[in-house]
Amino acid sequence: MLAFSSVAAMLLLFGAVTIHAATKVSEADFGKMPNGAVVHIFTLTNEHGVEARICTYGGAVVSLKTPDRNGQMADIVLGFDSLEGYLNPAEPYFGALIGRYGNRIGNAKFTLDGKQYTLPVNDNGKNTLHGGNKGFDKVVWTPRQLPDGGLELTYVSKDGEEGFPGTLHVTVDYHLTAANELRIDYSATTDKDTVVNLTNHSYWNLKGAGNGLILDHVLTLNASRFTPVDAGLIPTGELKPVAGTPFDFTKPTAVGARIGQADEQLKLGNGYDHNFVLNRGGAGLSLAARVEEPTTGRVLEVETTEPAIQFYTGNFLDGTLKGKGGHVYPMRAALCLETQHYPDSPNKPSFPTTVLKPGQTYKTTTVYRFSVAKSAEKKK
Ligand code: GLA
Repeated sequence: MLAFSSVAAMLLLFGAVTIHAATKVSEADFGKMPNGAVVHIFTLTNEHGVEARICTYGGAVVSLKTPDRNGQMADIVLGFDSLEGYLNPAEPYFGALIGRYGNRIGNAKFTLDGKQYTLPVNDNGKNTLHGGNKGFDKVVWTPRQLPDGGLELTYVSKDGEEGFPGTLHVTVDYHLTAANELRIDYSATTDKDTVVNLTNHSYWNLKGAGNGLILDHVLTLNASRFTPVDAGLIPTGELKPVAGTPFDFTKPTAVGARIGQADEQLKLGNGYDHNFVLNRGGAGLSLAARVEEPTTGRVLEVETTEPAIQFYTGNFLDGTLKGKGGHVYPMRAALCLETQHYPDSPNKPSFPTTVLKPGQTYKTTTVYRFSVAKSAEKKK
């Protein structure tokens, strides 16, 4: 085994071959929907024993086990042991795929091609959040195991569903790679002009889900600007430099270092709940975020083709939900890094467009890479 790995490492070093020891995939029942439809759960395990479990309800990442610097495995995403937990209406999108439009659309309406569309109000009494009352997190996706060890999930969102125009065919591919990455490829096509903004809403705690707060996680965001919000968490339209504010994570900084500061934006979000504009050098995958947990050494790096990322510190968690293994999740028990287009883009012509037209294909990729740091990174 050792001999094989060193030969493999040498070959990789010299670029002679790329070795893909296939990720193993197994399937099981995860429960039944109220209408009797069976929900499946897929377990993807790579050659290093990193394991991701994904269910067809909401396409949710139910668990993700990675090693710490001593090789101890822990599940680093919040969630539930059974489907029942995910069906609770108070469930805050744990691990789920989000669509048709991730994050908020102000006043639950937008105009496209001169026509106004009205959406469900499900946030703050007036806005639409995460695709409406029954977003892509609350539907059962159709699974297919891919020959390369990936999991494909598809969903067809009908014309008019949750108020959005156009039948949208959505495909999301999950891959767990030999390089300890969870790679998510999103694609979609439409038969009428529409708006699309897809993401994944995993809640990360690199100490292990249910094992304390994330205030001491050290975060770097590759973002020099963010989009300040109003009292309803709708962007004002401004792109504000982070320099000199508690939103400056351009250098590694503990999440909790400034979260309690008397800053207007932090007060409005009750912590961090903001869209950061990524510093990008052209198209393709680029590093958006890096999180390091000093005690376990676990590191999460996020790469994306998207223009922005929502950094959210679990401000709405309140310890009332009983998660996996009976753990309760208090405020700041996890952080989210939702790669995306800016919130409320359909109402903000100055923001990068989220319009998808017939004949075009929406395509984005986000990679979550797991590793360990040998010694604790210095805090600012
Ligand atoms: C996103 C939003 C938050 C919150 C969570 C889900 O991160 O920006 O305000 O709604 O989703 O609870």
